Amino acid sequence: MIQKEIISETDSVYNYMDGETVLGYLEIRLVDGVIDIMNLFVSEDSRRKGIATSLMNEMIEKEDYNRIMLEVNENNNEAIRLYSKLGFKEISLRDRYYGEDTAIIMEKVK
Ligand SMILES: CC(C)(COP(=O)(O)OP(=O)(O)OC[C@H]1O[C@@H](n2cnc3c(N)ncnc32)[C@H](O)[C@@H]1OP(=O)(O)O)[C@@H](O)C(=O)NCCC(=O)NCCS
Repeated sequence: MIQKEIISETDSVYNYMDGETVLGYLEIRLVDGVIDIMNLFVSEDSRRKGIATSLMNEMIEKEDYNRIMLEVNENNNEAIRLYSKLGFKEISLRDRYYGEDTAIIMEKVK
């Protein structure tokens, strides 16, 4: 079950619950029709079961937005595959955004 928690005027968290336990969460910021993915995490034991996909799809369905943006480490293949499957496209790179590693900036337009 997914619960939305409103943190502030701009920030929200979607929690994927198993009873009282949070198995995964998605933090977003929505400003002027643009959603930034601030954080997406699924606990290690619960990965590869579609939880991140469910969280992203629930957010996409519930929020009123024009586009969604995110940064992902160039070496984070799991996350890059997940976002690509959800229709995100690479739009630019930011060198050394994560220490030595480059960030890929991805976007999904509604
Ligand atoms: C990235 C992360 C959120 C994915 O969560 P998840 O619940 O396991 O993802 P899903 O089960 O919804 O997977 C969706 C798709 O992503 C891709 N994927 C996810 N984990 C993968 C893995 N270990 N290897 C290859 N592809 C993977 C696959 O395409 C998968 O679809 P499939 O299972 O039908 O092949 C999770 O691995 C995580 O919390 N990682 C650490 C934090 C992190 O990197 N967050 C993203 C920051 S930008």
